[in-house]
Amino acid sequence: MRIFVTGATGFIGTAVVKEFLAAGYQVTGLSRTTQGAEKLQKFGAKARVGRLDQPALLRDAAAESDGVIHLAFMHGLAHMDLMSRLRLFAGALNGGIMSSFLRIVHQTESQAVQALGSGLEGTGRPLIVTSGVLMLPFGKISTEEDDHVKDAPNRSFSETTALGFVPRGVRASVIRLSPTVHGSGDRGLIPYIIKAARKKGSSVYIGGGANRWPAVHVRDAARLFRLALEKGEPGAKYHGVDETGVPFRDIASKIAAKLQIPTSSYPTPKSAKHLGFLSNFVGLDNPSSSKWTQQTLGWKPTGPGLLADIDQPDYFKI
Ligand SMILES: NC(=O)c1ccc[n+]([C@@H]2O[C@H](COP(=O)([O-])OP(=O)(O)OC[C@H]3O[C@@H](n4cnc5c(N)ncnc54)[C@H](OP(=O)(O)O)[C@@H]3O)[C@@H](O)[C@H]2O)c1
Repeated sequence: MRIFVTGATGFIGTAVVKEFLAAGYQVTGLSRTTQGAEKLQKFGAKARVGRLDQPALLRDAAAESDGVIHLAFMHGLAHMDLMSRLRLFAGALNGGIMSSFLRIVHQTESQAVQALGSGLEGTGRPLIVTSGVLMLPFGKISTEEDDHVKDAPNRSFSETTALGFVPRGVRASVIRLSPTVHGSGDRGLIPYIIKAARKKGSSVYIGGGANRWPAVHVRDAARLFRLALEKGEPGAKYHGVDETGVPFRDIASKIAAKLQIPTSSYPTPKSAKHLGFLSNFVGLDNPSSSKWTQQTLGWKPTGPGLLADIDQPDYFKI
């Protein structure tokens, strides 16, 4: 069985590619660079060199596959080619840099998911699109039935575009990942939080730090993508969550202990200016359940947990 994976060279994508290869699948991964393509070939996968803003390429790759996993996402300037950067700065003249950035991200992702879905249209084949549990309703344990809160940046547009292919004969489903998918090679939020703590000389939480972040180990997440591709129901929203909610104070304390620096509490996210873009996330209380996901797919995360993982030296290599 042949699968096509976008974001195949990334932290999670690499684990996903290895998971599918070990299970006997033929994997083709997308990368923008020949170095990325070589990395994939070393693992035993095939590669397509291309970008998210090349719909014809994405549609053809999906059509040649028996299923698609979509992980790539334009998270920042480093993920944008020259044309997108020019559009970003031109758009910034009319409404500011952040709204221009979000517009381009939104367009690129929506067009990419459209292209992948149309390559599978009418086949009944699986399309698994990545989303996140952050920005599900705050302050309660969210479930697979919840929708993202309105008026906050979230991945609901990825979900809507993907699930729009269900009536068009695609077995489309969504995996909402925890805000921290952790493990060796993590380049997500935790390394940025460690970097900010090191720079500031203190490890920060907001208020009493009781707000909770869900977490999942990267190998468990990779297995979930395989199970969703094999058994996923059309229209399902699965939660890639092992630990329902780790109190942020515990995360900050673990980082402080490892760096041998103090913790400090800030009254509001905005008051912790040195956190930059992280201040949008560190105070969020987004505990999430994956009970239904585990029952439906027979997925059993085996960890390790986030705090045990942050204990590993990998997280503190400079
Ligand atoms: N890491 C986490 O803790 C976490 C948590 C929640 C959700 N997620 C989501 O999970 C997905 C994967 O995250 P990750 O942490 O594995 O990402 P990552 O390590 O930063 O990797 C990014 C991947 O996306 C590809 N990519 C970036 N821009 C691209 C573009 N314009 N065109 C084509 N490919 C592009 C890169 O490929 P090349 O560089 O080879 O071209 C790379 O494979 C993302 O959707 C992310 O939002 C991650």
